[in-house]
Amino acid sequence: MGTRPSLRHHKERRGGPGKIIRMTPGSRRNFFAEPERDDETIMIGGGISRWTMAYFATALTWLLAALALMVAGIGHPATDLAAPDTLVLVHVVCIGWLSLAMCGALFQFVPVLVAKPLFSEGLVLPALGLLTAGLVALLAGFMALGGRLPSAPWLLPLGAVLLVAGFGLVVINLGVTAWLRPTGPARFVLVGLASLCATAAFGTVFAFALAGWAGPTGDAVLARAVPLHAIAGLGGWLTLTAMGVSYRLLSMFMLAPEVEDRQSRLTLAAGALAVVTTVGGGAVTIGFAMGQNVVLSVAAIFGLSCAALYGRDLAGIFRDRKRQLELNTRMAILSFASLAGAAVLGIALVSMGTLTSHSGAFVFLAVFGWLSGLVLAKLYKIIAFLTWLETYGPVMGRAPTPRVQDLVTESRATKWFAIYHLSVWTGTLALLAQEPNAFRVTAAAMTVGVVGIVHEIIRIRRLEDVAPPLRLPAGAAAPHLLFAKS
Ligand code: HEM
Repeated sequence: MGTRPSLRHHKERRGGPGKIIRMTPGSRRNFFAEPERDDETIMIGGGISRWTMAYFATALTWLLAALALMVAGIGHPATDLAAPDTLVLVHVVCIGWLSLAMCGALFQFVPVLVAKPLFSEGLVLPALGLLTAGLVALLAGFMALGGRLPSAPWLLPLGAVLLVAGFGLVVINLGVTAWLRPTGPARFVLVGLASLCATAAFGTVFAFALAGWAGPTGDAVLARAVPLHAIAGLGGWLTLTAMGVSYRLLSMFMLAPEVEDRQSRLTLAAGALAVVTTVGGGAVTIGFAMGQNVVLSVAAIFGLSCAALYGRDLAGIFRDRKRQLELNTRMAILSFASLAGAAVLGIALVSMGTLTSHSGAFVFLAVFGWLSGLVLAKLYKIIAFLTWLETYGPVMGRAPTPRVQDLVTESRATKWFAIYHLSVWTGTLALLAQEPNAFRVTAAAMTVGVVGIVHEIIRIRRLEDVAPPLRLPAGAAAPHLLFAKS
């Protein structure tokens, strides 16, 4: 990881507007892990990943594109779940929005989790370029499949190869970094990265099979492994990684003690078993042409246990916190509610035998209520924190500077998050009721919420809510919207 702006040479730091407090050697050494007072200034000193903002900006652009597709009625529920238009929508959300946002956050936070620099800062931007090019080619391939573009069977394999190259750089970079000290949350990231490899491997076989280049084995995998690909991606890669990072972010932002390793290891074991059962067991069922119900049921039990154990871990963090809940944490609670809601909905649909016909509603609640809700809430805080660190870190102790919370106006931002979550829940009901037009209205309302949140984030990045006397002290430079200046 880049080492900017490292504040090792500063002997003082601020304790709030207008106040300067003295740093102790201990507080500088372990600012991310040892909350000692009620102020984010304890976190100064960490380097800033140069391209994290570019990942976030690209991810939010893809999210707005996905919402535009939903408002326009392109993809499920207007079309079948397996229709090419749905595949476009699914990958805009899963790769463009969620995977890129997650990668951007991981490039910043994995080095913090393991207290080691990122293996290579130089691989971060090429990975973004490859992932973007690969996604565009994959989407064009799906559009050609659906007759929206002239037939071009090579587009899907091209997209797959570029995506594998991009995700490969991400996995090497983050994997080597996390492997050096695989403690607590870093283990979740490692299992998440392994799941990403499985997801990309299945996806690549599908892409070659759809082009007619994968032979009978590829066709058999395409016919039966789509649920395995989806579970490895949404459950293994995105959910386990989000859980791991959330442990550290929640305890950091609420000044709560870390969840004990022994405890989180059990949660991870349940999640990892769910993924291994799905991918390993699923592959065996395909190889031996057996039914998949038993394997998927066992995986579901492990998955539900993982969600329940995660709930227990979160309850501990909230119980032992030393700080009032900020907006990002209150909104994260709404996404935890959606995770619990998705678990209950899944159980209800399975017991009524209607999971297949309503899987769109289930996946929608998990993807937009749980994963996207959590990512949006954490982006709001992470961007404020990184912007604060980048702008005021270099002048810390030499001039009065604002607090992180002075960069945000929570009272104004709350309504956008509320609109977003209410629309997601109404959208889930519209999907369950099989009302595509009502769903489009809720997607439009979600768009209003997301545009509002993006607007707030841009204001944070431009320091627009910081009172003028503290905004740019002598020696501080305004941050760039899309990258951290070196
Ligand atoms: C190398 C990267 C990837 C490639 C090449 C790829 C490719 C594909 C292909 C070709 C299909 C369609 C299979 C069919 O015809 O039914 C598919 C389905 C799917 N993919 Fe991916 N994928 C990739 C990554 C991901 C990731 C990272 C996620 C989630 C995090 C994901 C989630 C899904 C889901 C949920 C479906 C099922 C969609 C539906 O049935 O409507 N994919 N993928």
